[in-house]
Amino acid sequence: MKLDVMLPVKAVSWGLGVMGQEKSFIANPIIGSARLNRMGLHRARVRFAERMAAARRARMHAVPEADRAAYDRDGFVVKENYLPPEVFEAVCREAFETPLPAWEMRQGHTVTRMTPLTLSRRDRAPASVAAVRDPALRALTGYVAGRSGEPIHFIQTVIAEPSGGEADPQTALHADTFHSTAKFWLFLHDVGEEDGPFIFSPGSHRLTPERLDWEYRQSLTARADARAHHSFGSFRILPADLEALGYAAPRRMAVKANTLVVADTFGFHSRAPSDHATTRVELHGYLRRNPFTPWNEADYQSLPGIRGRQLDIHLGWKDFSATRLGKPRVWQPVGNLTGRDPARL
Ligand SMILES: [Fe+2]
Repeated sequence: MKLDVMLPVKAVSWGLGVMGQEKSFIANPIIGSARLNRMGLHRARVRFAERMAAARRARMHAVPEADRAAYDRDGFVVKENYLPPEVFEAVCREAFETPLPAWEMRQGHTVTRMTPLTLSRRDRAPASVAAVRDPALRALTGYVAGRSGEPIHFIQTVIAEPSGGEADPQTALHADTFHSTAKFWLFLHDVGEEDGPFIFSPGSHRLTPERLDWEYRQSLTARADARAHHSFGSFRILPADLEALGYAAPRRMAVKANTLVVADTFGFHSRAPSDHATTRVELHGYLRRNPFTPWNEADYQSLPGIRGRQLDIHLGWKDFSATRLGKPRVWQPVGNLTGRDPARL
C-alpha cells in the first residue's frame, strides 16, 4: 500500500472542514463517511448550525420587524421599487452600457457572467457598488444568512440558450448547503413567468423534524450518489417530496425591474427552465460563513484590505494558479463586457 505522506495534513484539514462550512461528501471523507453519518454526524451538523443561526439572529437588531417576519415565514424577503428611480437608472446605465472586467462559466446551455463589484470598481460603477454595499442591505443579508458579515458582490448576467447543450443543473430544485446562507438579486429588468424566474418553496428554510430526518437519510448515501451536485452536499429534491417535509409547493417569482429578493438558500430553490433564449441581468450578492460560531461578524473577510475586495483577491489567486500552476479554472476571464454583450464561452 502506498503511504500518503500528506495524510496527516489532509486529516487536519478534513477535521477543520467538519467544524466549518465544508459540505462535500466527496472531497471530505469524514463528512462523506456513511458510518459516521449513520451515527448522526450530518444530522448533528445540520441541527447545531440551525441553533447557532437562531441565536445569532436574535442579536441582530438593525433589521426591521417586517423583514424579519417575512424571512421567518417564507425564507425570503421581496422589496419592489427598491432603489429610488434616479439611482436605479444610474445602476442600469453602468450594468448595460459600461464595459467592465468579466468572467464567465458555462453550465449546460446556460452561461453565467460575473462582473465583480468590488471597491476597485467604484470609479466605473459608483452607483452599483454603493447599492450593493448599502448598510441596510448588508444587515438584511446577514439576517437571512444567519450570520452577519461581508458579502461578495457582482453583476450577474445569466444567458440561457435552451436550444443547445445539456440541461442547466441549477434548474433542479435544491438546497445550496446544510445551513442558512444568503443570496440576493436586484433585478434590472422584468422577469416574467416564462423567462426562467427564480423558484423557491416558501418555508423550506425551516428545519422541520421531517427535514432533519430527510437530511439524515440523504447523508447515508450522498457520497455514492450519481448526481454530482448532490454528492457535493447541495442536495437535490423532487417537487413532489416537499410536502412530506412540511413545505409549500415551489413558487415562481416573476418580478418587475428594480425588485430586490434576498433568500436563504438552505431553502429549496432553483432557476426555472425557460423554453426560449433569455438574458437576465441583476446585481447579486451572497454571504456564506462558518455556521457554528456563536458570534456575528469577526471574520477574516471583514478585515481592512480584504473587505470589499474579496473577489479581486480570489480571482487573482485563481489566475495565478491557472497560469503558473496549470490548475483548471471554473470562471474564465472574458475581458471587458457590458450586460448587453452576448456570451463569450
Ligand atoms: Fe442554488
